Amino acid sequence: MDSSLRRARRSLAALALLSVFTLSHVGAAEDLRLLPPAAARQRLAALRADVAHHDALYHQKAAPEISDYDYDRLKQRLRELEAAFPELARETPAVAEVGDDRSGLFQTHRHRERMLSLDKTYSEADLRAFQARLAKLLGRADLAYVVEPKFDGFAVSVTYEKGKLVRVVTRGNGVEGDDITANALMIRRLPRGLRATAGDGTANAIPDAVELRGEVYVSFAEFERINAEREAAGEVLFANPRNLATGTIRQLEPKEIERRGLDIVFYGIGACLPASMQPPTQRGLHEMLKRWGLPGVESTWTARGGDELWAAIQALNRARAGFAFPTDGAVVKLDSVAQQREAGATDHAPRWAMAYKFAPARAETQVRAIVVQVGRTGVLTPVVEFSPVELAGSTVARASLHNRDEVARKDIRVGDFVYVEKAGEIIPVVVGVNTARRPAEAPAFVFPATCPACATAVAQRSGEVAVRCPSAACPAQLRRRLEHFASRECVAIDGLGPAMIDALVARGWVKDVPDLYRLRREDLLTLGKDVAKSTDRLLAAIEASKHAELWRFVAGLGIPQVGTVAAKEVARRHGSFDALLSAGASVANDSAGRAIAAYFAEPRNRALVENLIAAGVRPAGAKTEATGARLAGKIFVLTGTLPSLTRAQATEKIIAAGGRVAGSVSRNTHYLVLGADPGAKLDQAHALGVKVIDEPALLRLLRDD
Ligand code: IVH
Repeated sequence: MDSSLRRARRSLAALALLSVFTLSHVGAAEDLRLLPPAAARQRLAALRADVAHHDALYHQKAAPEISDYDYDRLKQRLRELEAAFPELARETPAVAEVGDDRSGLFQTHRHRERMLSLDKTYSEADLRAFQARLAKLLGRADLAYVVEPKFDGFAVSVTYEKGKLVRVVTRGNGVEGDDITANALMIRRLPRGLRATAGDGTANAIPDAVELRGEVYVSFAEFERINAEREAAGEVLFANPRNLATGTIRQLEPKEIERRGLDIVFYGIGACLPASMQPPTQRGLHEMLKRWGLPGVESTWTARGGDELWAAIQALNRARAGFAFPTDGAVVKLDSVAQQREAGATDHAPRWAMAYKFAPARAETQVRAIVVQVGRTGVLTPVVEFSPVELAGSTVARASLHNRDEVARKDIRVGDFVYVEKAGEIIPVVVGVNTARRPAEAPAFVFPATCPACATAVAQRSGEVAVRCPSAACPAQLRRRLEHFASRECVAIDGLGPAMIDALVARGWVKDVPDLYRLRREDLLTLGKDVAKSTDRLLAAIEASKHAELWRFVAGLGIPQVGTVAAKEVARRHGSFDALLSAGASVANDSAGRAIAAYFAEPRNRALVENLIAAGVRPAGAKTEATGARLAGKIFVLTGTLPSLTRAQATEKIIAAGGRVAGSVSRNTHYLVLGADPGAKLDQAHALGVKVIDEPALLRLLRDD
């Protein structure tokens, strides 16, 4: 291509990109009214097609291709264009403002009262304008507001009739949504009925029918746990907790849903019969939800007027770093229901509420390399390595590109300057390339045709996006398998880290997992000077692992879709390796069972287990962690870094013992578990007289159980 043409194309691409990236802070960069009508028509059509495409990905497939921020910006640009050219906008049907999450997989059900969307903004000026508008409309400068976190999941309407749960429906198109009742019943914290008596012993009023509005979400701890399991099982990771939540509820296997640990919070009300039972304020609604025993919004702020409102939003933004659940903004609501009614609604959103969204942290950095990793099941994952940058409180230097298609779609090249964001505030994601800064000679990345570890030609199974190394002898896969087997989540062999594993594989002493149990002391002693002590410790750890619980071995085999939770269930049901080997297809009563049956149907895998037994492995029966109910109803809050457990592990143990983990300290909290560098939760616990314990005390509580 001629170089001036190339330059022109590059600057055009840069402009297109800038229009997405700069709108955020400075508003529309151009006066849209000056656009010639033909250009406006063309742009309108293109924007509508774009929005429709991303709408479908976002709402129906739970697999967005662009960040939430860019998605919101795109819709904002369409709205601005439609406002500048109302006559053109009328020529073709508008894109639905509310979005539509109906999937076609469920029966639909009509809401008694419409489920509206919320107007959103990223700008302080818009927020202040919203409050000024309301003050003018209602003739009062000191309107009282409630500020709540904007939970990042998906909206549902839960109907209770005479106190009994009868239906759970998604928002759908606002008029009717998917009836997901059967699947939603797998949400542990979703009460089947409203409590007739409140915690203080007084009787509750129970409406004939009430639609309660809330959000189904996945906590960070569950998100991390599930992604760790998926990573261990060689499966594609969820980009953020919301994708996990929306992707899960469409699953048609309730057991699988139960395993995913969905949670729910209630924050609103639709139809209420009789209407006189609807609390007169939003705060009153919060209290009522609590009395009914429903999980409600625990952290809220009140504010009067614009300045207090802005201050409350800032306070929420500071506090949300400590929330156990994902949030992407604040929802501001007029407190008084009478005032809400007076303000009314547009066709898609109430005038009495607004969402203020926090712009995600975004950084620009340069790509140093694109490496392709080989996972335990042979899946090749491209990872982009870039110059380290500070992002939302931590330094990031790499991001997964998931698969071959994703690299091709994003066209990221070594030397490129890329924009990096943290999806759901956790995992760094490359959201775009600044093509204006692309080095002239940067070649497109070519996905390898052979395994980078063993040079076997890669393969792709039909219907899968993943590209794999099919070799059973691939050393990279073996290393990952050994790391997984020895990890704390599986048989927990201390001292068997990546460096030791590399050494064992490189010397050919370990060709598969059972060889770990045949290692010879004299061989290990040749690995270095003064290694006698560490060698003996390693051998002792390997020896001890022979008697780990059965579920640890089942999880350690790394069967796709079988993480620790499924492994515990299988171990409980079958009790021994022998029983499991002879169970055949009878294990297969759900997806994990089917995966295990398929695994043991392969002679190679049966041989591996028999080999483990021959090497002296004797699992400690079906014993799983304590499942008693001694911690039932006990609410824990975690703060700071614990000496040995990760947050996800502590949470899992507490839940397994019947307890619950909340994100913030309240009067209901039973224990605050204190780690190093605790946050403000410690002061809150002291103020509320909540018992503070350390990790050893927590472990004692769990053992007593
Ligand atoms: S109130 C009529 N409160 O945000 C107002 N919504 O984009 C109804 N959301 O559809 C919504 N946290 O899915 C409300 N504390 C909160 C919320 C919240 C999250 C979601 C909800 C809604 C969307 C609007």
